[in-house]
Amino acid sequence: MTSTARSTQLTAAGAARVGGPGTLAGRTVSRVGYGAMQLRRLDREAAIALLRRAVELGIDHVDTAQFYGNGFVNEVIAAALRPEDDVLVVSKVGAEPAEGGPIPLRLAQRPEQLRAGVEDNLSSLGLEQIPLVNLRRADHGPGLRPEGDQIVDLDDQLAVMADLRDEGKIGAIGLSSVSLDGLRRALRVGIACVQNAYSLVSRDDEDMLRLCLAEGIAWVPYFPLGGAYAGLPKVTEEPAVATAAQALGVAPAQIGLAWLLQHAPNTLLIPGTADLGHLRANTEAGAITLDEATLAALDAVPTRSGDIEVA
Ligand SMILES: NC(=O)c1ccc[n+]([C@@H]2O[C@H](COP(=O)([O-])OP(=O)(O)OC[C@H]3O[C@@H](n4cnc5c(N)ncnc54)[C@H](OP(=O)(O)O)[C@@H]3O)[C@@H](O)[C@H]2O)c1
Repeated sequence: MTSTARSTQLTAAGAARVGGPGTLAGRTVSRVGYGAMQLRRLDREAAIALLRRAVELGIDHVDTAQFYGNGFVNEVIAAALRPEDDVLVVSKVGAEPAEGGPIPLRLAQRPEQLRAGVEDNLSSLGLEQIPLVNLRRADHGPGLRPEGDQIVDLDDQLAVMADLRDEGKIGAIGLSSVSLDGLRRALRVGIACVQNAYSLVSRDDEDMLRLCLAEGIAWVPYFPLGGAYAGLPKVTEEPAVATAAQALGVAPAQIGLAWLLQHAPNTLLIPGTADLGHLRANTEAGAITLDEATLAALDAVPTRSGDIEVA
């Protein structure tokens, strides 16, 4: 099945779209996707099995990076996904593996590093074109900040990303960990999505989400549950989430994901998990409808910021 023949109701694998249909880089995808970073915690066989299960459950958008497990995650994606699954694989550049550290990556922001990052992804994913690549900045949100030669002007980076798109190596450009000002500057090159840290309990980027909505840009929050790192506020620990979950008879994580889907129509989810039960729960969150009173209670949760604890 070609991407142009994608159904709004069913994935190419014949599963019902989880969370309904959304649009990413000009393609229809299920609004519940999968963030593959947690796969690095599994062995190869288990990681492949989890990806196959994701496809069966109706996921056809997978987020990855060469620096997840130093190429391991991309390699299992290449082994697990078949062309006929027509899964939209989205990667990112702007960092490289640094295994062994508390955050297993270091920045690689210079234009030649971005180009090399795309080449590495093409090779490990076994693709001729990566449909969408996020330029992973470090202006904003938790984690690393650039120093020295890693402080690179956004326009210089956008120029190489646009060249890579012209050359057909990438299909579309996204931005990650970008500031509001950076996003405004980048609009002229055509931005398919923004991937910033954002969840029900950490909503500093509400203005950016609204700009994306106005510009027809997909909002693909990372850490949609608060991530696996210590130091970041967790959706599942929020009392209002627990109350809503109990009232609806669902899991707290599902409330956090359902809230994201209902909060803005341009939101696409990429929750990460290494657990088959959680994978299923996350897809089932796409079918939960929160009533007005529950939404109001969740909207009233104060936003909190945090940072990754590096002990
Ligand atoms: N652009 C960027 O710079 C950037 C940065 C970080 C991440 N990302 C992407 O965003 C994706 C999502 O971020 P993330 O994986 O770090 O964080 P996340 O999705 O917010 O949370 C993942 C954590 O939540 C747990 N979890 C998942 N589903 C659950 C459920 N139903 N019930 C209870 N716990 C659950 C996972 O543990 P279990 O494994 O036990 O389920 C894991 O500890 C990543 O996988 C990656 O693709 C992008």
